[in-house]
Amino acid sequence: MIKFEDVFFQYSSSKKTALSNINLEIKEGRWLSVLGKNGSGKSTLMKLIYGQNLATSGKILFNDKEYSKEIYDDIKNKIAIVFQNPDNQFVGSTVEEDIAFGLENRNVPQEKMDEIIGRVLEIVDMTDYRKYEPTSLSGGQKQRVAIASSLALNPEILILDEATSMLDPKAKKSILKYIKKINKEEGITIISITHDAQESVYSDDIVILEDGEIVYKGNYASLYSDTTTLEKYSLEVPFIERIKRDLNNYLNQEIFKIEEDEGSVVKKICKLV
Ligand SMILES: Nc1ncnc2c1ncn2[C@@H]1O[C@H](COP(=O)(O)OP(=O)(O)OP(=O)(O)O)[C@@H](O)[C@H]1O
Ligand SMILES: [Mg+2]
Repeated sequence: MIKFEDVFFQYSSSKKTALSNINLEIKEGRWLSVLGKNGSGKSTLMKLIYGQNLATSGKILFNDKEYSKEIYDDIKNKIAIVFQNPDNQFVGSTVEEDIAFGLENRNVPQEKMDEIIGRVLEIVDMTDYRKYEPTSLSGGQKQRVAIASSLALNPEILILDEATSMLDPKAKKSILKYIKKINKEEGITIISITHDAQESVYSDDIVILEDGEIVYKGNYASLYSDTTTLEKYSLEVPFIERIKRDLNNYLNQEIFKIEEDEGSVVKKICKLV
């Protein structure tokens, strides 16, 4: 769906390249997590995918077409991005106007708009805030509205740049589960930047960036069974994987596999008990 070929990027105000030698294929319908320390180039990579910045050298392809001004409108219609800092993202003077703004741009009829706004606010549990000013909301509530606005657009690709970092654990889990559902059922491609090992549980593919370069490319199972890489990049292991590992050690058998999700692990534990 999106392909990076030998991509370099340098901000005009900076002497250093922010991204070097990026070769990456983002496949349709997958969930890709991008991990890496502060300043490693994660947000810059998203800006290139979204077309907000163009590569300094190398090629970025969207469905085999090279990014250019001509296909830019098409890309913008297919990708929704939730930026790291939701404050920079609000355009409407109320929550509902903010969500409506993106829909108006895509010529969604008024009666359909009301229904979509109601539906996405329910997903992020913000129904009661429909008439509120976005500026009057808490950080986590703003993130919820930003996620709702992006879901309303029904994108082909949803980019989450630390989009759930301010959410409480319950809200985070419920929203991520919903996103996983649309990823699986509707084939929406998810690209998520996160510092939270818990969030990476939802991903199929994982890349690690360091100093603007991809230093690891693999899938969920390959990363979390690779202790050398986990230690090298000081990555936290998701709770569910720690439980599986401890139980396997305790039972001295490889009963819980890395591919197994929470539901299957719980069932097995119940049987064992
Ligand atoms: N607008 C900009 N102008 C100049 N340099 C920038 C700009 N934005 C980012 N950079 C630089 O590019 C590099 C990568 O930054 P980027 O924001 O992509 O990192 P990040 O991995 O998203 O970090 P974080 O986890 O802190 O969000 C950093 O060295 C940063 O200082
Ligand atoms: Mg960032």
